[in-house]
Amino acid sequence: MWFETLVREETGCAAYMIGCQRTGDCMVFDPTWDIEPYKKMAKKKKSKIKYVIDSHSHADHISGARRLAEAESAELMVPELIEVEYEATRLKHGDEIRMGGVGLRIVHVPGHRPEQINVLVIDYPRGEEPWAMLTADFVMVGDVARPDLAQGGVEGADMLYDTSIPRFLDLPEHVEVYPGHLAGST
Ligand SMILES: [Fe+2]
Repeated sequence: MWFETLVREETGCAAYMIGCQRTGDCMVFDPTWDIEPYKKMAKKKKSKIKYVIDSHSHADHISGARRLAEAESAELMVPELIEVEYEATRLKHGDEIRMGGVGLRIVHVPGHRPEQINVLVIDYPRGEEPWAMLTADFVMVGDVARPDLAQGGVEGADMLYDTSIPRFLDLPEHVEVYPGHLAGST
């Protein structure tokens, strides 16, 4: 398995690319508008972009997911509960995408947005348990993302406390966290 973080420096928005050397396939998670860095990385890794996943409807950056999927003839994947008019594969809690030895397990984490999904990363040759979680706009460094943008603040906080945070705390302690915003975020 290979794993890369691609940060849009202007805003601190982080996208992640994960691939399997054996199959030569890879996935892009939360790409921003300029898709060239993802195409370049895939080329460097001698990989084909097979899946492009958006974690939620972004208010703070323009998603490049559709144009990247189109450009690379990849499968566009979005949360089951997202409200969009374009064609895309819907991902629900518990779904798992396999690329050779790599497993990408979907976790529904409502609160910041009701549809938001995260991805648990499993490297099967290493073990059956996930080693990382792509937390998008759910868990940040020392914080969680705002619950009051897509719905009332109390309603959003209830979703976080009732559903998302228990799912996060249930994970083994060794799981590494890779958030959607890093230093420089607006
Ligand atoms: Fe967001």
